[in-house]
Amino acid sequence: MAPFRSIAWENETLILLDQRQLPHQTVYLQYRDPASVADAIQTMVVRGAPAIGVTAAFGMVLAATASTATQPDGLLNDLQTAAHRLMQARPTAVNLAWAVKRMLAVASESLAGSVASLRQQLIDEAQNIYQADIQINRQMGLHAQSLIPDGAKVIHHCNTGALATVDYGTALGVIRIAHEQGKQIHAFLDETRPRLQGASLSAYELKAYGIPHTVIVDGASGYVMKTQKINCCLVGCDRVSANGDVANKIGTYNLAIVAKAHRVPFYVACPLSTLDRSLSNGDEINIEERAPEEITHIQGQPITPAGTQVLNPAFDVTPHEYITAIITEKGIAYPPYPKTLAALFDT
Ligand code: MRU
Repeated sequence: MAPFRSIAWENETLILLDQRQLPHQTVYLQYRDPASVADAIQTMVVRGAPAIGVTAAFGMVLAATASTATQPDGLLNDLQTAAHRLMQARPTAVNLAWAVKRMLAVASESLAGSVASLRQQLIDEAQNIYQADIQINRQMGLHAQSLIPDGAKVIHHCNTGALATVDYGTALGVIRIAHEQGKQIHAFLDETRPRLQGASLSAYELKAYGIPHTVIVDGASGYVMKTQKINCCLVGCDRVSANGDVANKIGTYNLAIVAKAHRVPFYVACPLSTLDRSLSNGDEINIEERAPEEITHIQGQPITPAGTQVLNPAFDVTPHEYITAIITEKGIAYPPYPKTLAALFDT
């Protein structure tokens, strides 16, 4: 286990590590109603696609606890209202809608029983999603080891570790398992402007695990690929369309282009809950735009002239032709992705 918990469920309370305060302060916040959980997702107390999915699942449990309905269909109505609010919190990571829909499906299938049994079913389902996340990440990390030689130098973008999941993480989980297996691995961490998930969160995690790492500015990846023997880039994802186009943290697309120019393999760690087979390609992915202040200010201080216009997309889409392989919990997919991803999904 990581030496911290991104998400915990104790005494009918959701506990979230406030990632906005890392690496300086370790503050755990408590949540007892679904609207506050939606706010926590929106304001990035918790972030990372799998973590916000799990958080939303417990948000649905809290909606069931808060409901005063005496009949299961009344409870389902209250759950639908909460689902709507939670799914609006952040649009790009499909895990959020995936988890909420899974909770609604459990509720719809349990209408014949009592309100108490429906609540219990929801708690069980949220716990299942929570536990499964850890296993899925471990499986992904183990499958990926065939791609990671001893002595590997890898470039990683954003934070995809135990903070972005329940534990282990996806792309950072691959690095962590390589280290646990005794491989000498060195991670170059993109700082990941504007919210600095790489500099503040990934560096915090790798320090805690004792994994050698170096933080670089996002624009340094070309230089680093040219001057260091980089074995591969490893990133996570927020939504992957059926053809293998990958939405991930802004800057991923640039990194993939630079990697291709340097013939560095570009790997995406993707739990199958992040695959959105309803979308044929990445142009259909809804990209979240966040507040301009994330760019115009650093730690509350303005860095641009007042009134400067900014564009702040939180994610971009890397076309599948830049992606060497997609690592899932069921194995590694190589192009052509429409065929290989579907085959893994269906096994
Ligand atoms: O805006 P964030 O911090 O939620 O973005 C996170 C990412 O883009 C991660 O790479 C992705 O969610 C995968 S996390 C395992």
